[in-house]
Amino acid sequence: MTYIKDLADHVNNQVTLKGWVYNFRSSGSLVFIEMRDGTGLTQCVVAKDDVSGDAWEAANSLRQESSLEITGNVKADERSVGGHEIHVSDVKVIQIAENYPITPKEHGVEFLMNNRHLWLRSQRQWAAMRVRNEIIFAIHTFFQGRGFVQMDSPIFTGNAAEGSTTLFETDYFEDKAYLAQTGQLYGEAMAMAHGQIYTFGPTFRAEKSKTRRHLTEFWMIEPEMAFYDLDMNMDLAEDMIKAIVSQVLEKCPNELEILERDIEALKKVAEKPFERMTYTEAVDILTSDDTADMLDEMAESRRQEQVDLENEWEEIKKERGQAKKWRKAQIDQRIKEISARIDQIEEDLRNIPSWKESARDFEWGNDFGGSDETVLMMQFDVPLIVTHWPAEIKAFYMKRDETDKLALGMDILAPEGYGEIVGGSQREDSLEVLEERIAEEGLDKEVFEWYLDLRRFGTVPHSGYGLGLERTVAWICGLSHVRETIPFPRMMGRLTP
Ligand code: 4AD
Ligand code: MG
Repeated sequence: MTYIKDLADHVNNQVTLKGWVYNFRSSGSLVFIEMRDGTGLTQCVVAKDDVSGDAWEAANSLRQESSLEITGNVKADERSVGGHEIHVSDVKVIQIAENYPITPKEHGVEFLMNNRHLWLRSQRQWAAMRVRNEIIFAIHTFFQGRGFVQMDSPIFTGNAAEGSTTLFETDYFEDKAYLAQTGQLYGEAMAMAHGQIYTFGPTFRAEKSKTRRHLTEFWMIEPEMAFYDLDMNMDLAEDMIKAIVSQVLEKCPNELEILERDIEALKKVAEKPFERMTYTEAVDILTSDDTADMLDEMAESRRQEQVDLENEWEEIKKERGQAKKWRKAQIDQRIKEISARIDQIEEDLRNIPSWKESARDFEWGNDFGGSDETVLMMQFDVPLIVTHWPAEIKAFYMKRDETDKLALGMDILAPEGYGEIVGGSQREDSLEVLEERIAEEGLDKEVFEWYLDLRRFGTVPHSGYGLGLERTVAWICGLSHVRETIPFPRMMGRLTP
């Protein structure tokens, strides 16, 4: 058996492929089967004269997603998907599939989500999962290469660490347990044992809002390092993100092409230094006249683009009547593109006034909303690291600067409107200060005694951060919603399949 990804090694030789029918059509004495085998897609051509009567019958009985075995000769063919074509000598059916619900026509996203177990077979979903896999591999490679120890933090926990409003509570015998919102506090304990560690595991938050950035179950990577300050923390996160993006660019060109990802935007992230500024500087940018002007200009250029597109649409619609068949297909494709772009423009034009208002009226001390992050990031083509946050809006464990008003936290915002992908900080390392914080926040000191022990027995400055895997996948793949970044997403209103 040969895998489609390896066809280049078998040109002009006979191979046997096992897989599924992705698409097919027949014309007289030829059947064209687009076959997928998990590693790729290739076109197989069955000619009536080249195969036995049984094989010809088998080829004609196929339906979408039927499973089969195909034997044939590999020809290099640039026009063909994947660059090869199989001249088939035999077809064996494993199963003729029932009527497959996902057809090449367009489906609504709710329908596709209900059929997620099958949707995963579609090209774009396939590509996104491959990129996810490469990102995971890149993260392990990065940390293992630097001598970090991977640790598994518990999922049942006895305390909240990231606010009490997003806790999932479960019955734990006679007691209550919460699903972990973060592995960080356990990571800190492990860092005092091993120096540099990282967690890679599922985390849970009862997010009661339906947004394109929130899941209730998501995967987080949380490095924690003894003797690191905020600057070292930022340097590590920047190096990690660059390593991830570089590895995906190197290993997944085909997947990125299927996803129609703008490669140039990713290359900048791999090559250029990230932007760094304080929260206060970011607020100044957000509320500035320059930002308001930029949004006005953006609205104006969107309106102009819309007019141009509508004119083009009129022109090619007129042309379509007399056009040849191939040109008609070209025009239909272009009309689809224009219509999608106009939808996007109209959405932007609806949003811009509220973005502008929210940015202009932003008050120091608040957390950035999704639209504020989007507006801020319109001005940068690489990730932005925002530091020195108002302590009130950050977690109790963050160390503060000498003014005691600002937390030594860092959020990393992805470019192109993908929002916060990393949250982290230097940790409070003083026992007395941490005890104070826990009291101020009204937290139950008893459940944090073990955590306070880390400050009793050889406390040291230390730092860490959490990278959200799904948001990272969404950004690198260019997907507008996190629901397509994980095989089986869990969100408010979605628990199956
Ligand atoms: O900023 P957060 O809440 O930070 C922490 O949990 C810290 N304990 C991390 C640390 O310092 N070790 O979450 C970290 C990242 C966010 O930047 C975001 O990428 C992701 O986790 N995230 C979510 N992703 C999907 N759905 C959600 N509901 C998410 N909440 C956070
Ligand atoms: Mg955060």
